[in-house]
Amino acid sequence: MKNTLIAVMSACFVMLVASCQGGSQEKAVSTPSVNNGNAVIETIMTRRSIRKYKPQKVGRDTVETIVRCGIYAPNAMNKQEWEIRVVDNKADISRLTEIYKRYNEKAAKDPSMVTMFRNAWTVVFVAKTGGSDINVGLLGENMALAAWSMGVGSCFLGGPIEFLTRTEEVRPFIDKLELPEDAELVYCLALGYPDESPEAKPRDADKIRFIE
Ligand SMILES: Cc1cc2nc3c(=O)[nH]c(=O)nc-3n(C[C@H](O)[C@H](O)[C@H](O)COP(=O)(O)O)c2cc1C
Repeated sequence: MKNTLIAVMSACFVMLVASCQGGSQEKAVSTPSVNNGNAVIETIMTRRSIRKYKPQKVGRDTVETIVRCGIYAPNAMNKQEWEIRVVDNKADISRLTEIYKRYNEKAAKDPSMVTMFRNAWTVVFVAKTGGSDINVGLLGENMALAAWSMGVGSCFLGGPIEFLTRTEEVRPFIDKLELPEDAELVYCLALGYPDESPEAKPRDADKIRFIE
């Protein structure tokens, strides 16, 4: 009798928690449970954008693996219309952050902002040299998933690219990347060991339909 009561109370508690989470959040948390121990699905479903990193640097060997996974992404006609630059030196990242703070009052007043790249000290800059953005998008997702599978967090960043490409003061840094004339920076990927464990952002499963 006591066991039955405990079971009923537990079920009520689970239902209460589920109802508090709301529809889309419920979908987001229920999906990962279908992975059946599949490591790839586990990596995809548990990856989160990380915006707070431990001071420990990601080793060059690990970064090398991550970017190599990137260039093995499918891409149109295997033209590989991309350029990748890894920046992991403190001097450049600190200097860019200083400049960014001078242009951005809110960032300057934010004591939690360690670097302008969501606090990461390793940043992969990705440029396209033609073709569709899909190519560099797939390259990026390969990198983010490879990173996560090795315990490295990441965050795609479009904001810093906007700033870097329109601010004359950072021109020496852009020149240092030695990108070809036709290259267009699309995004950067912050990398580092996570110092936070964010919940999954809700996803709307109603966007998916099977057509009979
Ligand atoms: C093209 C692109 C640009 C993004 N730019 C930024 C950015 O500038 N700053 C930021 O904090 N996150 C940025 N993000 C991360 C998204 O906010 C994040 O992927 C989204 O909220 C879903 O969360 P999740 O990655 O944890 O699943 C960007 C993501 C993509 C794909």
